[in-house]
Amino acid sequence: MIHIPKAEYTRRRKALMAQMEPNSIAILPAAAVAIRNRDVEHVYRQDSDFQYLSGFPEPEAVIVLMPGRQHGEYVLFCRERNAERELWDGLRAGTEGAIRDFGADDAFPITDIDDILPGLIEGRDRVYSAMGSNAEFDRHLMEWINVIRSKAHLGAQPPNEFVALDHLLHDMRLYKSAAEVKVMREAARISCAAHVKAMQASRAGLYEFSLEAELDYEFRKGGAKMPAYGSIVAAGRNSCILHYQQNDAVLKDGDLVLIDAGCEIDCYASDITRTWPVSGKFSPEQKAIYEIVLASQEAAFAEIAPDKHWNQAHEATVRVITAGLVKLGLLQGDVDELIASEAYKVFYMHRAGHWLGMDVHDVGEYKVGGEWRVLEVGMALTVEPGIYISPDNQNVAKKWRGIGVRIEDDVVVTKQGCEILTGGVPKTVADIEALMAAAR
Ligand code: GLY
Ligand code: MN
Ligand code: MN
Repeated sequence: MIHIPKAEYTRRRKALMAQMEPNSIAILPAAAVAIRNRDVEHVYRQDSDFQYLSGFPEPEAVIVLMPGRQHGEYVLFCRERNAERELWDGLRAGTEGAIRDFGADDAFPITDIDDILPGLIEGRDRVYSAMGSNAEFDRHLMEWINVIRSKAHLGAQPPNEFVALDHLLHDMRLYKSAAEVKVMREAARISCAAHVKAMQASRAGLYEFSLEAELDYEFRKGGAKMPAYGSIVAAGRNSCILHYQQNDAVLKDGDLVLIDAGCEIDCYASDITRTWPVSGKFSPEQKAIYEIVLASQEAAFAEIAPDKHWNQAHEATVRVITAGLVKLGLLQGDVDELIASEAYKVFYMHRAGHWLGMDVHDVGEYKVGGEWRVLEVGMALTVEPGIYISPDNQNVAKKWRGIGVRIEDDVVVTKQGCEILTGGVPKTVADIEALMAAAR
């Protein structure tokens, strides 16, 4: 299995600590277990920031980073080994495993955190944490601080500054290392295979969930623990619902089906959308819309390179889509004016992409100092233009209504431009029709 090597977690912790102010401490909690319903838990997914710094896969754990601390800069609080619990729920690393297998300099049982952590915080000037994202943890943090404050008369020194960790950590996460790109390529490869499988399986009379099952099978067979987000399998008019999740409608001859789905490998997402005809052959209207979306995506790729700014790719898609809609008579007027008045938004109401990484909508600022961010090598993003013609749009001829097309690929910025990670699934009309014909 392709995964992030242990040494990379060490490197990340060191890089973060190098950016922290002197005499400071960073504290991050693991994700909580989420209850699905009585006695049943949701599949556990580690918090992305926590995973990024530790690779530690268990709940009930807290990372503490103290740059410059002589007795160890990296302390991990975690669950202790417990034969009874491990019999029921599976193995735990325990404090020994945290040191041996996960690089902690020191480890303590999570049950002792209230006794130990105030002592680690005491005397540090500044605390870095993800303030505001975990109310319960914020409350605990203040309790630990108050323990120190209550001992001020004994000479204890509580920290005076509380800093959001996100700014430093999320900027680090925005730049993908070679190891991260390798994992993302693997997630992309498996997701491409899943889309190909779903295309091949597509038949009128099946259901949206029949194709979702093909995706899930390929994801799991490829070693992915889960999809990176709820798969969207949207046939016919459902393709016009951007985040459709119901996935239970029947696939009808003559309709398109839009699938937006990707798996996650070692907590790195892929995010692919393809749209194809249920029965394997595009109608003239479907093809006309599809070709515009595809051309707009090609135009966007050309705008992704170092020194181009974040919005250039989006602007390219808007121009091609608006011009294409005018040509088809779906919009009337001057292209520049239609762009300025945002008239295209009736058909193209979302942005051309987002950062991609451990979170499908990954962290990282899109603007710096009020200006669109300039792209740099290692940034990963999606390129996902679309056209959606509402089934209720009375301003267009009936033949266009209910057509929704999105095409989405994942790219990483390279020195020369960008590498498309998700090229392994066809997307020209000819290639899709050929693949589907061969599967009939
Ligand atoms: N799958 C959600 C998105 O494409 O942004
Ligand atoms: Mn996306
Ligand atoms: Mn998507």
